[in-house]
Amino acid sequence: MADTIDTRGSLRRLWDWFWGPTAVLSVGFTLVAGFLAGILFWGGFHWTLEMTNSEAFCVSCHTMETNLGEYRETIHYNNHSGVRAVCADCHVPKEWQHKVKAKIIAVKDVYHELRGSIATPELYEERRLQMAALVWKKMKANDSRECRNCHNFEYMDFTIQETRAASEHQRAIDTGMTCIDCHQGIAHNLPAGYLEEYERVVKSLQKPSASTETNAVKAYLADKTQ
Ligand code: HEC
Ligand code: HEC
Ligand code: HEC
Ligand code: HEC
Repeated sequence: MADTIDTRGSLRRLWDWFWGPTAVLSVGFTLVAGFLAGILFWGGFHWTLEMTNSEAFCVSCHTMETNLGEYRETIHYNNHSGVRAVCADCHVPKEWQHKVKAKIIAVKDVYHELRGSIATPELYEERRLQMAALVWKKMKANDSRECRNCHNFEYMDFTIQETRAASEHQRAIDTGMTCIDCHQGIAHNLPAGYLEEYERVVKSLQKPSASTETNAVKAYLADKTQ
């Protein structure tokens, strides 16, 4: 019995301390106010992240038909199941720590936009291979993480895939190859010389060049170039 009263007493004191005036404001008030401010800040922050993920936002700069037009002809824009992958689904990470980093790096694009680096279709074509290589490098390094937000080898029914797809996917699982190793150009046109450039990207990633994976990629690319 005494125990209960004691507990109640100390809870009471804790309650008073929490809500009572300390120097200026009560601890409780400060925490609650801080919490609310945090939600407002976080909401605004989150809204900014969401807004800058929309197709309309990307296309506000990537207006040229080159980019949007090509992608609109692909299965990720229109397909029988009605699931669309928009620009950010493939280009911006979902996990927030990676997402925030990507957004910060993307600030450089504002500078390039102001300089007009890809302002005309001609300039775009000049830079396309270089830009594509940047994307490949990221996808190769993160094991095509963004593709895997929607696709997963484990959920693929190889028995209903066409034979070539099923056997290549088995090969990919066995050798550790990643989506982008074989699926370049799924959303945009590929410039001339892309396979050589892709090979350079793979080499630049400094994996042991004799690794099973690197050998598998080399063999696959060699097959393609024939
Ligand atoms: C402020 C204008 C602007 C906005 C908004 C913008 N971009 Fe860009 N983006 C550029 C410019 C300019 C380049 C060319 C940079 C260069 O020349 O290196 C570029 C390059 C790229 C590249 C090539 C690879 C790289 O990292 O440079 C990709 C991919 C890309 N943008 C995707 C996106 C996506 C997806 C969005 C929306 C989430 C987006 N961009 C929003 C201006 C913009
Ligand atoms: C937002 C989800 C999403 C993301 C991200 C995504 N995909 Fe897809 N992908 C789809 C859907 C949906 C389809 C169409 C499925 C259908 O209806 O047949 C598809 C179809 C495909 C196809 C079949 C093409 C064809 O012609 O039949 C390939 C290959 C593919 N995706 C590869 C990729 C790769 C590689 C990436 C990463 C660069 C990627 N996808 C990212 C959702 C996504
Ligand atoms: C070793 C090469 C290779 C790798 C790695 C690879 N694919 Fe494929 N994939 C193919 C080939 C070849 C096809 C059949 C032709 C085509 O659609 O390009 C195919 C077909 C597909 C299809 C269409 C299947 C169908 O039956 O409609 C999807 C979706 C797909 N791949 C997604 C992926 C994703 C996602 C990854 C990574 C998790 C991946 N692939 C990795 C070679 C590969
Ligand atoms: C299904 C995934 C997917 C979607 C959706 C997608 N991209 Fe890409 N994007 C890629 C891949 C993969 C590359 C690397 C080059 C290649 O293989 O075509 C790339 C390359 C690029 C590049 C580099 C230059 C080039 O042409 O290769 C730019 C810029 C770009 N994307 C912008 C966009 C914008 C803007 C959108 C939306 C209108 C978009 N992407 C939608 C997968 C995607």
